[in-house]
Amino acid sequence: MTAEAIPDYPFDRATALEPPAKLAELREQCPVAHVRLPSGDVAGLVTRYDDARAVISDPRFSRNLAREGAARMSTTKDGGLFSRRRMGSENISEGEGHLRWRRLLSRWFTVRRMEVWRPRIQAMTDDLVDGLVAKGSPANLSAGLGLPLPVRVICALVGAPSEDQDKFAHWSSTMLTLTRNTQEEVDQAYEDFNAYVSGLIDRNRANPGDDLLSELTQITDSEDGRLSHAELIATVRGLLLAGHETTSNMIAIMTAMVLAERERFEAVIDDPELIQGTVEEVLRMDSTLSAIGVPRFITEDVELSGVTVPAGTTLIPSAPSANRDPRKFPEPERFDPRRQANQHLTFGAGPHFCIGQPLARMELQVVLGTLAQRLPSLRLRDAPDDLKLRTGGISGGLQDVWVTW
Ligand code: HEM
Repeated sequence: MTAEAIPDYPFDRATALEPPAKLAELREQCPVAHVRLPSGDVAGLVTRYDDARAVISDPRFSRNLAREGAARMSTTKDGGLFSRRRMGSENISEGEGHLRWRRLLSRWFTVRRMEVWRPRIQAMTDDLVDGLVAKGSPANLSAGLGLPLPVRVICALVGAPSEDQDKFAHWSSTMLTLTRNTQEEVDQAYEDFNAYVSGLIDRNRANPGDDLLSELTQITDSEDGRLSHAELIATVRGLLLAGHETTSNMIAIMTAMVLAERERFEAVIDDPELIQGTVEEVLRMDSTLSAIGVPRFITEDVELSGVTVPAGTTLIPSAPSANRDPRKFPEPERFDPRRQANQHLTFGAGPHFCIGQPLARMELQVVLGTLAQRLPSLRLRDAPDDLKLRTGGISGGLQDVWVTW
């Protein structure tokens, strides 16, 4: 790492859809670089693919930034989401306990199980597109499809009423603050979200179904030590947050990215076989969704691109940079829906690899296929360079994406 002036992170950028130029510069010149976070603390930004992958998938490294000496991300006193005790317990966020927790959850999110959901997701998407069409062009795609679809899906899967979407969108946004909320607002959001989930659990206990919440509640009530009540609440809260916030942003980003260079959309209209590859390229090339990245606290010295990073450092592997590393991806700046072996890091890697990725991928594929089929004349209302980033949070993405047809 260099001792030069430490740049502020997240970096500025020229347009919303293009990654900050600084990332490519660091990737070539300083693959582990000091950056200053909104909290004022300093972390090391990791910009090459192999290094980033090694850091996020190394089970020795902690995702718990509540540890002594770890960098705080946000301007709030608690340092933000990554510094709060995640999942309500250390027990399920790392090591053996985490593996056990993943086993409880992962069977709900297998590719096979998700295929069973495809027709329901298609029906929900059709219903929302009907709504857009009925209201007429132009439409706010973020509000009309991007947000409500993942909310309906995760609520159905978990067993929560989707009418409450505004509430948990508000709590999630507050919990994800980098600079936009105060500590009091964050504490209130946790309190309200926990009380809400607790109420859901009580109602569900009285009237169980075949949803995830019913199963997890049963496991908790069996008191066999697999999941405590606090862990159950944190798990459900985490799923409601993760299930809608990321995917809803990504639906809007995907629409913007394929319409900004419209031949990408036309290619899918001509050949629906390209849907899957197009979604993967969107995921690889997006640089807006995660404003910061998923940090790790380094518990032992580690060597990255010939640099020894000492234990006690907080490292931030940059997926947007890693995903455009020419050492890994031939012609990384080219959007290629036929790209082979597209092992981008957008869903992470290793022990914490996104549990919801089969679901997120399916939602994105269904949305793209439906838009191509039903609204082939779809265009962005505004020039791509006028798209604006959502800022102030750990989860970024775009402000409202408006479309016409
Ligand atoms: C486009 C959408 C999504 C993106 C880009 C995304 C991204 C990620 C990333 C990068 C991680 C790894 C975090 C780390 O290494 O510390 C992660 C973990 C996780 N994601 Fe997602 N995610 C998405 C959608 C979802 C959905 C729909 C769900 C739930 C249904 C979900 C649930 C989770 C959970 C529970 C974890 C924690 C896994 C663990 O710690 O073992 N995500 N996600």
